[in-house]
Amino acid sequence: MKIFAHRGYSERYPENTMLAFKKAYEAGADGIELDVQLTKEGTVVVIHDERIDRTTDGTGFVRDYTYEELSGFNAASIRSEAAAFERIPTFEEYCRWVKGTPLITNVELKTGVYYYENIEEKTLELVRRYGLADRIIFSSFNHLSVVKMKELAPEIPCGALVEKEGIGNAGFYCSRFGLEYYHPDIHGLDEAVVKECRDKGVRVNVWTVNDLEGMDRCVRWGCNGLITNDLKLPDRWRKAKGAG
Ligand code: G3P
Ligand code: CA
Repeated sequence: MKIFAHRGYSERYPENTMLAFKKAYEAGADGIELDVQLTKEGTVVVIHDERIDRTTDGTGFVRDYTYEELSGFNAASIRSEAAAFERIPTFEEYCRWVKGTPLITNVELKTGVYYYENIEEKTLELVRRYGLADRIIFSSFNHLSVVKMKELAPEIPCGALVEKEGIGNAGFYCSRFGLEYYHPDIHGLDEAVVKECRDKGVRVNVWTVNDLEGMDRCVRWGCNGLITNDLKLPDRWRKAKGAG
């Protein structure tokens, strides 16, 4: 089962920063999960919220700033004990770095509330320019966005991201729309859903799994990956199982 670092190693480092991504790699993650949006002039940036207020020392919407302006805000202010200053990274900066690692990247297109024009094309262009197409999974709560990505890039796996209510007949739903992955919330997921997905050839990556019980369920049910804030979880789980 693949272990994805949710927004990088976000349990210990400021989420969605290069520091959190590098620390996730050092800690042994198989992959990184990150969130992308567009700035005022259309630069693809890595940040979770539509507003910069929670994760930086600034205020306002990502889409109202140029990248030059955004890069002056401190994205480490959310975990100031871990770093004095971190920039909001561009997705290009991330691609340049991750290309030199074996990491897989789950790129979440943040198109669920505000819909950024051409975010799929802009993100895909960077993935292709840096030769990362075989190590990417695109996902979004906006399934139109991943279906569009699938049309643009049939060779790149895409997933339907869902809240804890899930989707009835999820395996059929994903396969019907050509999506290789289902990304459910651990809360509300049950074994039958995982089985139905697997029977339809749809792989299941579960978010956000931060405790032993959740990881145990993912392993027992045969999930393909879990997305966690806590990269110590796999070790804690192995120890709890008496496997080292
Ligand atoms: O992709 C899984 C998870 O990141 C989705 O929720 O709100 O953390 O982006 P959120
Ligand atoms: Ca996310």
